[in-house]
Amino acid sequence: MSFDTLLKGGVLPDGTTADIAISDGRIAAIAPAIEAEAGETIDIAGNLVSPPFVDPHFHMDATLSYGLPRINASGTLLEGIGLWGELKPLLTHEAVKERALAYCDWAASMGLLAIRTHVDVCDDRLLAVEALLEVRQEIASYIDLQLVAFPQDGLYRSPGARENTIRALDLGVDVVGGIPHFERTMADGRASVTELCEIAAERGLMVDMHCDETDDPLSRHIEQLAYETQRLGLQGRVAGSHLTSMHSMDNYYVSKLLPLIAEAEVAAIPNPLINITLQGRHDTYPKRRGMTRVPEMLKHGIRVGFGQDCVLDPWYSLGTADMLDVAFMGLHVAQMTSPDDMRRCYNMVTTESAAIMGLEDYGLEVGKRADLVVLDAGNPIEAIRLRATRLMVMARGKVIARRQRSPMRLEIPGRQADIDRRFRIPDPT
Ligand code: FE2
Repeated sequence: MSFDTLLKGGVLPDGTTADIAISDGRIAAIAPAIEAEAGETIDIAGNLVSPPFVDPHFHMDATLSYGLPRINASGTLLEGIGLWGELKPLLTHEAVKERALAYCDWAASMGLLAIRTHVDVCDDRLLAVEALLEVRQEIASYIDLQLVAFPQDGLYRSPGARENTIRALDLGVDVVGGIPHFERTMADGRASVTELCEIAAERGLMVDMHCDETDDPLSRHIEQLAYETQRLGLQGRVAGSHLTSMHSMDNYYVSKLLPLIAEAEVAAIPNPLINITLQGRHDTYPKRRGMTRVPEMLKHGIRVGFGQDCVLDPWYSLGTADMLDVAFMGLHVAQMTSPDDMRRCYNMVTTESAAIMGLEDYGLEVGKRADLVVLDAGNPIEAIRLRATRLMVMARGKVIARRQRSPMRLEIPGRQADIDRRFRIPDPT
C-alpha cells in the first residue's frame, strides 16, 4: 500500500495521536500508527492537526481598503457604512479583485480555507459581485468561498437594492442576505425578512442576514427570521449574523426567544472583534459589551459560529485573517473560560462554522477532502492561547504553506535559553 502523503504523529483536536494518510486529495486512513510507503512522509509529532479554519462572516469586497478614502473617525457602525458609501463609487473591478486575492493569500497562510463573504449589491454596477465571482473561481482549488447577496443600504431603503439582490443571485451568488435593522422602520425590516426568506425558499438557497446589529433592545427581527424559517421549511439553512441587540434585551423576552430560535434551527454568527469594537458606542459607563448571548444559546442547542467580519476596512482597522484572534476575543467577551468552553470556542471557528456553511466535504475523517492545518500547539486550547503559528497548511491533499518551528533564543546577560511558550497542566494523579 502506498499513499501520496503520510503525516506522522499529529495530535487531533480530541487529544488522540494519529497518523493521517492522504491519496488523491482525500483522507485515505487515520490510525494510531500507519506503516506504509508514501510519496512524502512528514513528521508532525506533538503538533495539533486540525480541520482548517472557517470564517462564516466576512466582507471581502471591503477588505484591505483601510484609509480609502479616509479612516472612520468615530469608530461607529454608522460612520463605517457612510464611509463605505463614499468608497463604493471609486471601486474598480481590478482593485476589488486584487485586494480580495491578497486577502486570500493571507487566509491560506493562516489555514483559513472556507470563507462566507457578504457582497454589497447596492451598487447598480454589481462590480464587486462580478469581481468576487471571479475570485471564487480562481481560488477554488484551495479556498471554499461562499458569497452572500447583501443589500448593505437596505433592501427597501436603497433604490434598486431589491432588483440588484435578484440580479446577483441570478449571476450565481450562493446565499440570500439582508439588513432588517437598517430599513426605515421596524415594519419594513420585518417585511424585508419575510421577502428575502421567500426568495431563498423559491430558489432553494441558504439565508444569512445581518440581523439586529444594534444596541437597541427593541430590535427584534431575529424573531421574524425564526418565524419565517419555520413557516417556509428552511430549518438548518438560515443564520442570523451579529444579533447584538439580544445583549441588551429584557431577560424575560430572551427566555421566550431562545427556544424559538432553537426550534427553527436558526444558527447564530457573532463577530466578537467587531461587536466589542462597534457596540456600546453610545453608552457612557457602564458600557455594554454588545456581543450576543453565546453561552445561553449553546445551552439551548443553538448552533453558533464565530465570524471575523472585517479586516482593515471602514469598520475595523486591524486584523490578519487569523481565526484564532476571533476565538480568543469571543472566549473573553463571552467569559467562556472552562476547558470545555474553550474547546467549544475552537470548534466555533472550525467545525461549527463549517456546519453553518453546509460544507459537507469538511472534517478530519476518512473519505473527506484532505484540507487541514498543522499548528505549533499541543491542543486546541493552547492554539487559542498562543494564536499558534501555522506550521503547515494542506488543501485538497497538497501542501500550500509550510514553515519551520523556530523558537526564539533569549540572550539575557549571563544566560541563554530557548523560549517554549507551550505549557502542560500538571497531571493531578
Ligand atoms: Fe458584516
